[in-house]
Amino acid sequence: MRVLSAIQPTGAIHIGNYLGAIKQWIDLQEKNECIFFICDLHSITIPYDPKEFQKNILETAITYLAAGVNPEKSIFFVQSKVKEHTELCWLLGSVTPVGDLLRMTQYKEKSKQFKKNLDAGILNYPILMAADILLYKANAVPVGEDQAQHVELTRTIARKFNQRFGKTFNEPKTILPKMGARIMSLTNPKKKMSKSMGPQNYISLFDEPEEIEKKVMSAITDSGKEIKYNPVKKPGISNLLVIYSLFSGKPIKELENFFNGKSYSFFKKSLSELLINSLEPFRRKRKELLLRETYIKETLNIGAKRAETIAQSTMEEVKSKMGLV
Ligand code: ADP
Ligand code: TRP
Repeated sequence: MRVLSAIQPTGAIHIGNYLGAIKQWIDLQEKNECIFFICDLHSITIPYDPKEFQKNILETAITYLAAGVNPEKSIFFVQSKVKEHTELCWLLGSVTPVGDLLRMTQYKEKSKQFKKNLDAGILNYPILMAADILLYKANAVPVGEDQAQHVELTRTIARKFNQRFGKTFNEPKTILPKMGARIMSLTNPKKKMSKSMGPQNYISLFDEPEEIEKKVMSAITDSGKEIKYNPVKKPGISNLLVIYSLFSGKPIKELENFFNGKSYSFFKKSLSELLINSLEPFRRKRKELLLRETYIKETLNIGAKRAETIAQSTMEEVKSKMGLV
């Protein structure tokens, strides 16, 4: 199976991002041919600071390498370094219904948010994402729930292209995480853990032990004393149980039995120790990588070259089918 996914270069990564997205990449990498990249061209569709941009891209690359993306196994690069992404995006625009773009949930949300300066990039965002996927003829795309609609549109675009120009693309499937697709905020367990809600609501992959302990101990819990999984009545404890289960590999039932009769603070202390230990390798690898900028840049360049070989071959086929030779 050829697996492909991408992430925007947007600052800190929290355990929600890790459990909902990155962990899947790392697991899939073991048995599949994987292509992962930093989608800088998607990020420029909303306001950003060009002066900070390269720093953020590098920081994101470090995060992914520290989290376990293995550039010897997977192709890992920066999107804008392979110009075929933008080239195919333009060509696919000619088989993409505007009506489909207008009904994308992300477009509807962003067009409200940026009502005053609404640029075409926000509308065309899913065409670029389809180009990202179809350029490599990927079979499977691991993403969070919010991006599933864009992969569905990618299938529509592939179908339309094939109908018009002859069978070229397969229709990629979405891979959603089974558990951990929605880790909730520590300060408000009814909302999802998100960068936009501030550092107290999340645990970053690189938080120091003291910060982890402070955040876990002050996480919102529910009334009552029982440590039971019940997302409706006990959203706070249930979220912490999910996090505990995913990091320890132990089923929730086993945790409920183990913590039966114990206090919330005993449970939280144990969770914070688990997180401090589980995240230690990430902190250590990140510190090592921060000193190896040249290695990271070389790794990304090699990745871009490998990606380019596949991308160029698809472009030749696409252009020839479209009568562009
Ligand atoms: P954020 O809301 O923190 O800005 P992004 O929108 O950058 O996160 O999402 C990056 C990836 O992480 C996406 O694949 C998304 O589905 C996943 N993700 C984000 N928040 C969570 C969460 N709380 N639980 C699980 N997965 C999440
Ligand atoms: N749009 C995705 C997000 O915001 C990122 C992305 C860009 C992507 N290109 C992709 C994901 C191709 C999967 C496949 O999370």
